[in-house]
Amino acid sequence: MKKIYKKIFQELKSNILKVAKNNKNLHDPYFDNDEIKSLNKNIKKTFVSTAGMNRKNFEKKISNFVNSKYTIAVNSGTEALRLSLLALDIKENDEVLVPSLTFVGSVNAITYCGAKPHFIDVKSNDIVLDDEKLIKYLRKITYHKNGFTFNKKTKRRIFAIIPVHLFGQFVNIISLRSKLKKYNIKILEDAAEALGSKFKKKHFGTFGDIGVLSFNGNKIVTTGGGGALITNKKEYFDKAFKLANVGKKISSLKLEHDIIGFNSLMPALNASLGIAQFKKLNKFIKKKRKLYNLYSQSFLNSEYFDLYKESKNVKSNYWLQCAIIESKYAKYTYDLIKDLKKNKITTRPVWYPIHLLKPYKKCSKGNLINTMNIFRRLITLPSSVNTNIK
Ligand SMILES: Cc1ncc(COP(=O)(O)O)c(C=O)c1O
Repeated sequence: MKKIYKKIFQELKSNILKVAKNNKNLHDPYFDNDEIKSLNKNIKKTFVSTAGMNRKNFEKKISNFVNSKYTIAVNSGTEALRLSLLALDIKENDEVLVPSLTFVGSVNAITYCGAKPHFIDVKSNDIVLDDEKLIKYLRKITYHKNGFTFNKKTKRRIFAIIPVHLFGQFVNIISLRSKLKKYNIKILEDAAEALGSKFKKKHFGTFGDIGVLSFNGNKIVTTGGGGALITNKKEYFDKAFKLANVGKKISSLKLEHDIIGFNSLMPALNASLGIAQFKKLNKFIKKKRKLYNLYSQSFLNSEYFDLYKESKNVKSNYWLQCAIIESKYAKYTYDLIKDLKKNKITTRPVWYPIHLLKPYKKCSKGNLINTMNIFRRLITLPSSVNTNIK
C-alpha cells in the first residue's frame, strides 16, 4: 500500500474517531419512550390506516414548522415528488431540469410521469446547482413558443426544474426564480434532506411552487418511510391531494373516484411515529449543528480534507456530515470507505451521477464537469444524533 494512502487513511480515521465516540454508523434513527407511547396508543385505538386524525395532525405539525399553508403527508419523498409534478400539470414528454448529483428518486419521479430528465451541473467545488451556468446553458439550447420554453434539439417543452438542497445545503431559489422568470419554468424544490434548514429564517422548500420533504429511516426525523408535499397554493394542494387519495371526489357519499389516482397518503401508524419525532426535532437540529462543529474542529488542520459549510444567511440542518477529499486523492475514496468499514466505521460515497446510470444514459444533459469532479471526492461521515452525545 502506498505511503501517502496510509497517511490519508490514518488522518481520516483519527479525525472521525475523535468525534464519533458513541455511534460509528452512518445514520441511525433516534427513538425513546415518546415513539413507543405514540405507537401503542394508536394500535390500541386501531388507528393504523390512512383514515383518522393522525395524518392530519402530523400535517399540521409540518405546516407549522415549515410555515406552509398546505401540507400532504404521503408514503415517501419520491411519491411526494411525483404528485407535485402532476399537480403542477406536467405532460408526457416534457423535460425537467435536475442535477445529476442527487438521489435517484428525484429523477425517477420525473420518469414515472412519462417525462424526461435533463441533467444539469452543480457549482465547482460545491454540491448544489450552478444557477449561472444553467442560465448560460438555457440561452444556448432553448427557444420560446406560446409562452413556454423548448429544447432546440429534442423539441420538447422544458416544463420544470428540481433544485435539490443536498445534505441541507441551499440552492438560492430567490435568485434562481428571478433568473428563470422569462423561461416560465416551474420550480419544485427537493428539500428531502433539508428539514430544519432555513435561509433568512424561511424554511427550504417554501420558496418554489411546491417543496418536498422525506421522512425515510435515515432522515433527521423519520416515519419509517414517508414524505410530504408543502405548498402555499391551494390549486396545487387540491390536485395533489385528490391524486394521493385514489382520485376520490371530495365529500362524495357515493364514494366516487372520478380520476385515476394513487394510494399515496401516509398511514396513521407512520404519522404517529412522525408526531413523536417532531417533538424532538429542534433538539436534533441543535445536536447536528454541534456535531458539525466538532467535525470542523477535528478536521481543522487536515492536510487532505475539507468540510462543506453553510452559505451566507443559511442555517443548515447539517443532516449528513461530509468530508471532501482533495481532487488529486479522489482515486482513494472507495478504498478509504472500504478500509474504514474494516474498522467498524460506516462512511459512504455520494450517489453515482445519475446521467451515467443505465436507465438515464441517453437523456439530455449539459456540461457536467463539476459533478464529475466532486462526486468522487465526497465521503459522508457518521452523523446520527447520538454520534457524540448520548
Ligand atoms: C435528495 C433526495 N430526494 C428525494 C429522496 C426521496 O425520498 P424517499 O426516500 O422518502 O422516497 C431522497 C431520499 O431519500 C433524497 O435524498
